[in-house]
Amino acid sequence: MKDPEEFRRAAVERIRADVPGRAIVAASGGIDSTVAAVLAQQAIGERSRALFVDTGLLRTGEVERVRGIAKACGLAIEVVPAAERFLASLEGVTNPEEKRRRVGEAFIRLFEREAERSGATHLVQGTIAPDWIESGGQLRDTIKTHHNVGGIPKDFKLALVEPLRDLYKDEVRALAHHLGVPDPDRQPFPGPGLAVRVIGPVTAERVAVAQRANAIVEAEVEAAVAAGSMKRPWQYFAVLLPVRSVGVLGDNRVFGEVVSVRVVDSVDAMTATSVALPGELSRRISERVTRELAGTVTRVLYDVTDKPPATIEWE
Ligand code: XMP
Repeated sequence: MKDPEEFRRAAVERIRADVPGRAIVAASGGIDSTVAAVLAQQAIGERSRALFVDTGLLRTGEVERVRGIAKACGLAIEVVPAAERFLASLEGVTNPEEKRRRVGEAFIRLFEREAERSGATHLVQGTIAPDWIESGGQLRDTIKTHHNVGGIPKDFKLALVEPLRDLYKDEVRALAHHLGVPDPDRQPFPGPGLAVRVIGPVTAERVAVAQRANAIVEAEVEAAVAAGSMKRPWQYFAVLLPVRSVGVLGDNRVFGEVVSVRVVDSVDAMTATSVALPGELSRRISERVTRELAGTVTRVLYDVTDKPPATIEWE
């Protein structure tokens, strides 16, 4: 993408040509889908309806954050509460690809229902190049099925509109800057949400632990960035592992949960390097997680693996 304005104009024209009637927009509050939603709104105005699905797999404060982002760029976003439906669809599932498939399908069925309600024939998504490349595009091996690509069933009733599918993250960020989307450099959050950061079974209780651990990692890293002791990393989060570990609480033995902290730098998410935390930051995160989740989390690990050979998310 050479010139964001040129790209914007062409994308708006294309959406207008592709969508003769009404469309719904899958808006997650992330950069990609927010940019896609803004383009759709510019192209077809009120014929587009941006939906933000509260999957129950979101980070603490996400709904409010997304409302704020939408407001700042003049997007009318509707919040669709669906936590029970998503958690139910994940019951008993531990296989990462199966989790992605179930979450994808729950999104799809919900979008079909909402499209029917509003008479929409098209679904606008913020799919970008790495999403479909790593989902097995162009005869590549499937690294992981991104929910907005591989989760789409053959009998899907809506036509897909993906204005960003040839762009990489840095290009989408440049476009976001151009469109006035707030904080375009904020960290990405995966579509399947905490389902892929709760390794093993996804229950409401385990999601709540991952939410609290994630909030601590985000707060501590952002405090370190604000204090100037590190530059803002590409992504920083916590993962709840499917192993238990012995700890002590007062005089008692606790057979608790284990959390891994992951902080990486990247340019386009295709490769990434693990970031070494400055000073006492990892100790502080560990101390807060085990104190604020005392009796639940007994051990905190730090993931030092690059991508490749690992991926950024654990699943
Ligand atoms: P991985 O884990 O494949 O992640 O190295 C690359 C980047 O993509 C994000 N990610 C996703 N984003 N839907 C998304 O929109 C997904 O299903 C998904 N899975 C991973 C991940 O957070 C990282 O930024």
